[in-house]
Amino acid sequence: MWHTMEMKRFFIKNYGCQMNSYDSSRISDLLVKEKYVQANKITEADIVIFNTCSIREKADEKLFSDLGRARLLKVKAQSAYSDFLIVVTGCVAQLQPERLVEKAPYVDIIIGPREIHRITQCLDEALRHPSAAPKILTDQTNQDKFSCYDEAQSLQQGETSMFLTIQEGCDNFCSYCVVPRTRGREFSRDAADVLKEARQLLSRGTKEIVLLGQNVNSYRGVGLDGKSWNLSRLLFALAELDELKRLRYFTSHPKDLDEGMARAHGEINILAPSLHLPVQSGSDDVLERMNRKYSRADYLGCIDLLRSRRPDMAFSSDFIVGFPGETDNDFQETLRLVETVKFSQAYSFKYSQRPNTAAERMEGQIPENVKSERLTILQEILNFQQDQFNQNCIGRYLEVLITKRGRHENQWNGRSEYSQAVAVEDNSLSAGDLVLVKITDRLSHSLVGVVEK
Ligand code: SAH
Ligand code: SF4
Ligand code: F3S
Repeated sequence: MWHTMEMKRFFIKNYGCQMNSYDSSRISDLLVKEKYVQANKITEADIVIFNTCSIREKADEKLFSDLGRARLLKVKAQSAYSDFLIVVTGCVAQLQPERLVEKAPYVDIIIGPREIHRITQCLDEALRHPSAAPKILTDQTNQDKFSCYDEAQSLQQGETSMFLTIQEGCDNFCSYCVVPRTRGREFSRDAADVLKEARQLLSRGTKEIVLLGQNVNSYRGVGLDGKSWNLSRLLFALAELDELKRLRYFTSHPKDLDEGMARAHGEINILAPSLHLPVQSGSDDVLERMNRKYSRADYLGCIDLLRSRRPDMAFSSDFIVGFPGETDNDFQETLRLVETVKFSQAYSFKYSQRPNTAAERMEGQIPENVKSERLTILQEILNFQQDQFNQNCIGRYLEVLITKRGRHENQWNGRSEYSQAVAVEDNSLSAGDLVLVKITDRLSHSLVGVVEK
């Protein structure tokens, strides 16, 4: 029973993007600090937390099937007179709290992404009044979110590579996207805060930091000198930190890519020579209706600018096929852009109609079978390019950051500067080493290599 001070166990399931994964880790930190214990299985928990995503309809459907399962566990727990709490955090919580209450009235707590730091207080209340109506926190008064992580974060062991959110929210309102509604207005953390968190990660053994933001390259935070810093300024400051071996950042928006970022890639040697730069479509008409604020030529200009400073730069991207009104010709333009850029990796999706977005009501919604056809064609080319990219790495020397032991004895796994998984045949390594590896072979999703001595 709640009233005895027995320790409660929580299970957290993460859906969606890296920002959510960072949030899930912070939720765990906060709960561990309050003496909750993390369970590895949903069946071993008293509190189940779903940190949700609503970017496409599929993610949302998955949530409701998981909720159904959690409800059964709740019924079972309650019939044994023990309480059981179901918590929904993240983007679905923010976007449609009423729909959640209607479809899943057994949910106890609903918290939007900008309020998750208040979870411990909500749990305390719900534990004291288990049968109260669902508690809903979606007011997006964000700023304190990051400031209360400090102490809690240091309780958990760091890994070789860690995420660090520096910017949250989005003001771009691409016509297909829910994020401006779920994450709220753009907000950048102070540089001092970011540096402090980075130092904390490094002191716990982290070697690679991945900066996160919905539009990370529109970062505008208060700098150490009191002036406004952009992302390149912040990258130069982070690059000064001892012990930091590699820096990455995403997601970048093409419209905010500037000369300063190109200079950072030219001059900061711990900055990985890869950039995730979602293009979505290669057609100017479609880009315009998507409200992306750049043209196909602008996008190709970004690629040229970066390649001029860093010839070994690799590009990855996101694509949406079947956006309302997308003609065969528009789609061909996307394929032509792919041929021009040659991506090292990419994610591609069928357009998904989302509530309260401008594109939801656009004419010319594309039939499902056409979307599927286009997706198959696009993915075939993207997969081919990824394979080519990996194939071309054979014989090259890549910098591999070792993360964990491999499947075979004498083998360690790590990631190259292009984020490829690399298995290294060498027994003398340990996690956190950055080594120059000669790539000797390629498997379907990874590379194999040896450290040249
Ligand atoms: N801020 C980033 C991406 C955030 S969402 C950017 O602007 O690029 C991640 C990806 O999901 C997007 O790049 C887009 O390709 C995809 N996406 C977003 N909304 C979508 C929708 N309604 N249907 C299909 N894919 C979508
Ligand atoms: Fe969504 Fe566009 Fe903002 Fe990216 S930039 S999060 S796609 S609205
Ligand atoms: Fe999903 Fe929200 Fe991220 S909608 S992709 S979890 S910002």
